[in-house]
Amino acid sequence: LSAAIAAHFELQAQNCETMGSPLTAAVCRLAFPLLDPQTQTGARILGWRGDPRGDALALRLCGALHALVLSGAEQRLVAAYPPNAIDSERLSAAIAAALVGHDGFINHFLGTPPQTNEIARSAALLPGLLQIARQTGLPVRLHEIGSSAGLNLFADRFSYRFGSETWGAGRSAPVLVPEMRGIGAPDLSGKLQIAGRHGNDIAPLDIHAEQDRLRLRSYLWADQPERLARLDAAVAVAGDVGGFSVVALSAEKFVDQHLQLRDGECALLMHSVVWQYLPATVKSAITSVMEQRGGEATSARPLAWLTMEGLGGVDPFATVSLRSWPGGHTYVLARCDFHARWIEWLDWSGYSKSWLPRNVSY
Ligand SMILES: C[S@@+](CC[C@H](N)C(=O)[O-])C[C@H]1O[C@@H](n2cnc3c(N)ncnc32)[C@H](O)[C@@H]1O
Repeated sequence: LSAAIAAHFELQAQNCETMGSPLTAAVCRLAFPLLDPQTQTGARILGWRGDPRGDALALRLCGALHALVLSGAEQRLVAAYPPNAIDSERLSAAIAAALVGHDGFINHFLGTPPQTNEIARSAALLPGLLQIARQTGLPVRLHEIGSSAGLNLFADRFSYRFGSETWGAGRSAPVLVPEMRGIGAPDLSGKLQIAGRHGNDIAPLDIHAEQDRLRLRSYLWADQPERLARLDAAVAVAGDVGGFSVVALSAEKFVDQHLQLRDGECALLMHSVVWQYLPATVKSAITSVMEQRGGEATSARPLAWLTMEGLGGVDPFATVSLRSWPGGHTYVLARCDFHARWIEWLDWSGYSKSWLPRNVSY
């Protein structure tokens, strides 16, 4: 059993290296051999009952250790983490001290899955919001499932640089600057008016609660300070603008109960990197509610569905798609990496009527 856990920690280390976090890779590699089955944390990880990969087990431990750094609860870890350079010996000793000194805290932290509210994904979603606004000429009411803390509900309040094009420039941070691939910048014309911001999550985080803010920050990687800064800036925007909610409900219930067609507005369902976590029954319940509401949509009360999701189990990238009613047309807008570090805008002129489109050729 622990050989499988060891393999999982090593695989996670390799993924962290690919995703640009040598520190988190080192933590995965150094922490595993320090796990002691006599401690609560060691016993829980080494005897993990679920699927370590699916449960993101190594990242749960990395999150717990980073939380001890961010809260200042373990000074030896603070001294071994950025901005200090990685020193494997010092890092290993600090992790060992944390595992002994904070066993109860780490064990408790392991109980919930990582929550990453990645606002860089707003850069993949904003051009779709503009497309909906141009297409309908109406304010857009956002309904987001799997919102986490709800920060991407403020996509219209961030500023962006898409190659040489900017949007929302002059605002304070966060400024999102994805690497551009493909046909160049997306169409950023038109006026976007947001009629409401409604989020949902099975385990929402509240940006107004200090503990939840710490949790959000702890899952970011300590050697990626730009992501931490972006998160803090987005939390500040959401706190200033306000007027949003993230309700604790399973996604299909939220869509059924909260997403209604309204005269003079476009009702929008939006989600990023959520679909893969939903059971098949939940996905099909959402799809049928959308089909049914789509059948009732008119140009005075339209409906849209904007997603940034992997289309298949093993896709190395996400696809940004927009489906809109009346008509039920599907536009494939872009593909991007799961953190939207790069975005490849596709030619929007054609559309596919299949949903979710699995047969897109790039
Ligand atoms: C990878 S996170 C993405 C968060 C956010 N959409 C983003 O892009 O930053 C996936 C989110 O889906 C939520 N989730 C998982 N299953 C859910 C369900 N059945 N209903 C609602 N939310 C769910 C998780 O709690 C988590 O916040």
